[in-house]
Amino acid sequence: MAHAQLKQFETVRYSRIYALGAARGDQVVTNDEVAGPIDSSDEWIRQRTGIITRRRAGKDQSLMDMAVAASTEAIQKAGIEPREIGAVIFSTISHPYQTPSAATLLAELIGANPAPAFDISAACAGYCYGIAQADAMVRSGLAKYVLVVGGEKLTDYIDPADRSISFLLGDGAGAAVVGPSDIPGISPTVWGSDGSKWGAVSMTGSLLDFRDGETSWPTLRQDGQSVFRWAVWQMAKVAQEALDAAGVTANDLSALVTHQANMRIIDEMVKTLKLPATVVVARDIADTGNTSAASVPLAMHRLLAEHQVESGGLALEIGFGAGLAFAAQVVVLP
Ligand SMILES: CC(C)(COP(=O)(O)OP(=O)(O)OC[C@H]1O[C@@H](n2cnc3c(N)ncnc32)[C@H](O)[C@@H]1OP(=O)(O)O)[C@@H](O)C(=O)NCCC(=O)NCCS
Repeated sequence: MAHAQLKQFETVRYSRIYALGAARGDQVVTNDEVAGPIDSSDEWIRQRTGIITRRRAGKDQSLMDMAVAASTEAIQKAGIEPREIGAVIFSTISHPYQTPSAATLLAELIGANPAPAFDISAACAGYCYGIAQADAMVRSGLAKYVLVVGGEKLTDYIDPADRSISFLLGDGAGAAVVGPSDIPGISPTVWGSDGSKWGAVSMTGSLLDFRDGETSWPTLRQDGQSVFRWAVWQMAKVAQEALDAAGVTANDLSALVTHQANMRIIDEMVKTLKLPATVVVARDIADTGNTSAASVPLAMHRLLAEHQVESGGLALEIGFGAGLAFAAQVVVLP
């Protein structure tokens, strides 16, 4: 007997980012405010990181508040209705529940219920992981429009006395609507992980350690020097591979939007990639700080909002961090 065949289905050739949305923590926190408990100074933090102020969310502003604001802006600018969204992907490491996910609540709050919704845990690479997923979902026909959010309220996981990372961190959310396109709008993603460095950016303990009284409330910590070296050496290579996969060179870019981890890492990447001066480099870290999964969409949103780049140009975006995990792709600016 001949086997029954599945119905043929439509796929879409390409996807693109339709629009972005952004929300930052409602408080501006200066270097002087964070320097005391870590025996640091405004000068040291500026010189070693490029951060002048960071944005943090106060007690009354939640991760979900920022995610809803960013998503609402992206959906409005994309010119679609929330109910048209075929999937919600929320990249975050700071949603305060093991389960249920942040994405299902976000879908409900923005009017995208009953879209499938799930979280991605890939830290500072999370947004670029989400764009890779959204691109694949749109092209395979699994969803027409996908909402990708990178959002963090890292303030909840900061020890003000931790010298390794606390002073770098900020809070915010960035959102993108990805949908079908006639021309390529998102290049093949170059992505990966290196779990041999699992502990390089991590927590001071697990929730079980906390339950058993073996650690205080777990907060973020990192081995700054080894992460710095990895970011400078390995991530510049990944960025170049993403350009190659996209079939373009650094000269074709309008913008470079890296994870906003440290201004010195950004400067090194500009040098290694031999970026011409015509390429606008996102430097949102100076007054937003490092917002992990939110940093790439926030930085790109800002370049567009301040008219530093034009819609239709090419941007190389790259996220990297805890895991270690990384992802890079070239996108057409919305
Ligand atoms: C964290 C980071 C800013 C530290 O800067 P650094 O230049 O590597 O600093 P070092 O660890 O080499 O320390 C240099 C000196 O500054 C001191 N120092 C370290 N942290 C300090 C701080 N927060 N404030 C003041 N001094 C500090 C050290 O004690 C050391 O002093 P010494 O020379 O007298 O021994 C940097 O390593 C970094 O940005 N790493 C990567 C972050 C990243 O990409 N994360 C990705 C995941 S989010």
